[in-house]
Amino acid sequence: MSKIFYVTTAIDYVNGQPHLGHAYEKVITDVIARARRSLGEEVFFLTGLDEHGQKVQQAAQAEGRDPQAYCDGLAESWQALALKLGLTNSDFVRTTEPRHKQVVQALLSKMHAEGHFYKAVYKGFYSLTAESFLTEKDRLPDGSFDASWGKVIELEEENYYFKLKDHQQWLIDYLEANPDFVAPTSRRNEILGFLKNNELEDLCITRPSSRLNWGIPIPFDPAFVTYVWFDALVNYISVPAAHGDPGVNAVLGKTTNGPTLWPADIHVIGKDILKFHAVYWPIMLKKMGLPLPKQILTHGWWQKDGQKMSKTTGNVVDPIAVIDENGLDAFRYYVVRELDIGPDGNWTDAGFKTRYDSELASGLGNLLNRSLTMLKKYRNGIVPRANNQLTADISLCREKVIESYRKNQLQDALNHITELRWKADQFIEKTSPFKMAKDPAKAAELDSVLYSLVETCRAISVFLWPIIPNAAEKMQAQLGVKLVTSLIAPLEPLADGHVIGEVFALFPRKEEPKKTGPA
Ligand code: MSP
Repeated sequence: MSKIFYVTTAIDYVNGQPHLGHAYEKVITDVIARARRSLGEEVFFLTGLDEHGQKVQQAAQAEGRDPQAYCDGLAESWQALALKLGLTNSDFVRTTEPRHKQVVQALLSKMHAEGHFYKAVYKGFYSLTAESFLTEKDRLPDGSFDASWGKVIELEEENYYFKLKDHQQWLIDYLEANPDFVAPTSRRNEILGFLKNNELEDLCITRPSSRLNWGIPIPFDPAFVTYVWFDALVNYISVPAAHGDPGVNAVLGKTTNGPTLWPADIHVIGKDILKFHAVYWPIMLKKMGLPLPKQILTHGWWQKDGQKMSKTTGNVVDPIAVIDENGLDAFRYYVVRELDIGPDGNWTDAGFKTRYDSELASGLGNLLNRSLTMLKKYRNGIVPRANNQLTADISLCREKVIESYRKNQLQDALNHITELRWKADQFIEKTSPFKMAKDPAKAAELDSVLYSLVETCRAISVFLWPIIPNAAEKMQAQLGVKLVTSLIAPLEPLADGHVIGEVFALFPRKEEPKKTGPA
């Protein structure tokens, strides 16, 4: 069976508060998945939840609840978020599912049998907040630890370790030989810099069950559970295994003939978890005997009003509230338009409103509305067969959009589409169809202008579908056509006598709040 395009998001901590950052990552991944489908590829898109660890255990305890029941409750709201965002994910993984736990345990047993782990005593500092061991390098000049580590304690305990050190040079060579493995380039340089200037420590892959029991038990030593990252990263292959991926299952000693998903084509992640994905994960995979993912696509972090988003200060953007107020497409449009995949971004309510008004309501919505209203008024809503004067612009835009989608340059794709929209606006200004309509001698010319506009709107709707699918579908409904989402199938000209659908505002303008009192 041929390889399916496989794209993933990070799996969110189930006990976190879903905010703009999580929603952003899911939206851009969904746009990538939809764009690839538009380009004719079969796609498997995975997202899900990371449910083990000390924080979940403590939060459940604090509420006097069983951790699984606690996770089940929270998982519902995350699944509702996925729906709300219009995600076309093919599966939703939860690390507490038996299908995942089995794979983690099988891999641990296999790797242990092959001699990749050793047991040792650790004595030193431990961050309870990050659930990780700290080294001398993590100390500030005054000997303390940065506040971001939260509560730090001194600890002496025995654990299992995974030998990472031996693979440092191999990984550097791999990164050098595969310039697209970590994208964008700035992040690749960051990881290469880290690897060249630091000696890798072996990775502690267990926690004693006496201290943490909300984890996957180590199959060869019940006194321990798996460290959350060893558990979480494996989701990317446990789901393919569950779907019968032959390559992954072969490593687990099983023969299956399901779809070939692994290696992932893209892992979409945030910049804070790059080291786990670009250092630990490749070495884990190498030792498992599996190929590496093709790309780790790393996005930046959103702030709100120039400040870190934080539940404690209440400075958070709640994607659900934004969507309830403005619609899903407005949210998806804004995050793709505002922030390229890579740098950090800043959300302001004013910025969101400006883009909504000028680019969606007055821009896209208005072009469609003007074009269809004129067609109704001058041609009774019947599309005349005529020459499309914007054909070359549409073709050029299609080529650029396809190239941008192929490179996951979503903001660029949107910019090219916006250029085509401007071309159509200028075309209206230049040709003045409202004047032509007054002159019967210009009927054929008017036919051509109206036809060109309708075809341009139709092309724009197809190009935009991966980003704002609902609006694209509404555009096509207004144009009276059956849904087309393919970027590669040629758009056949509309049939002679084609009748458009009902015309309505695509992005209704927001009413300004009424001023009270004297102006
Ligand atoms: N559970 C781990 C990931 C395991 S993947 C095998 C985790 N979870 S998280 O909930 O903290 O973060 C999930 C994703 O959301 C990460 O990719 C992270 O970078 C992203 N974001 C969290 N806050 C963000 C912003 N403020 N802005 C953009 N993305 C952010 O890490």
